[in-house]
Amino acid sequence: MALLRLDKILSLSGERTRSEAGKLIRAGLVSVDGVCVSDPSYKADTAQNAVTFQGQRISELPFQYVMLNKPAGVLTAARDRRAPTVMGLLPGRMLTRGVMPVGRLDKDTTGLLLLTSDGTLAHRLLSPKNHVWKEYRATVDGLLSPAHMAAFAQGIPLSDFTAMPAELDIVSASAEESLAVVRLREGKNRQVRRMFIALGLNVTALHRQAFGPLRLDIPPGEYRTLSSLEIEALYAAARMDGDGGHG
Ligand code: URA
Repeated sequence: MALLRLDKILSLSGERTRSEAGKLIRAGLVSVDGVCVSDPSYKADTAQNAVTFQGQRISELPFQYVMLNKPAGVLTAARDRRAPTVMGLLPGRMLTRGVMPVGRLDKDTTGLLLLTSDGTLAHRLLSPKNHVWKEYRATVDGLLSPAHMAAFAQGIPLSDFTAMPAELDIVSASAEESLAVVRLREGKNRQVRRMFIALGLNVTALHRQAFGPLRLDIPPGEYRTLSSLEIEALYAAARMDGDGGHG
């Protein structure tokens, strides 16, 4: 955990807005290490300091926020009879607290999957209005050229919609195989694979390395909980950092 404003800590710890939290703090209901603090901008670290609200220690966020490095062959689903699911990679205590994947990765796609029990945040992150960037490393079985970069930048027509302008950076290119980094703000079903197919290229490996402000930094099959700074950055990406959201 990191240093956070008291009004932020109090709003993260329950269903109240930042301004409601500020009023409670100014009313003298919050203490830090046994001393009443009435300034909402005072910063504390709930891992280091005993922050209490009406005498109750605020030690844990009400929601869980988890980054998982999804391996290939694992389904982004709550359960499946035949294939392993991402939920099987998390400890039971998270499942009982309602952690769910935010969006999905295809069975063969690897990389960063965010999971949370914070349904409002998940909904906002997935909303097309918020345009959260996702970054993928894609291996394709053919030669990538600047013409493909231009097509991505323009927006690629697919059978049911036209993909929004996206970024394609070529890392290496040969007639047999090319490697690229793709950045896009949408997340429709199999979108990256479909964008390449529309240009006549087949994706042989797809790996998500970033989701909004989060960058993958753990090995395949592993998970970690997010820091409070990362959670704040997600709230900002979902435009929930003002008083309008529950953050
Ligand atoms: N685009 C795809 O084609 N597949 C994924 O899993 C994610 C984005």
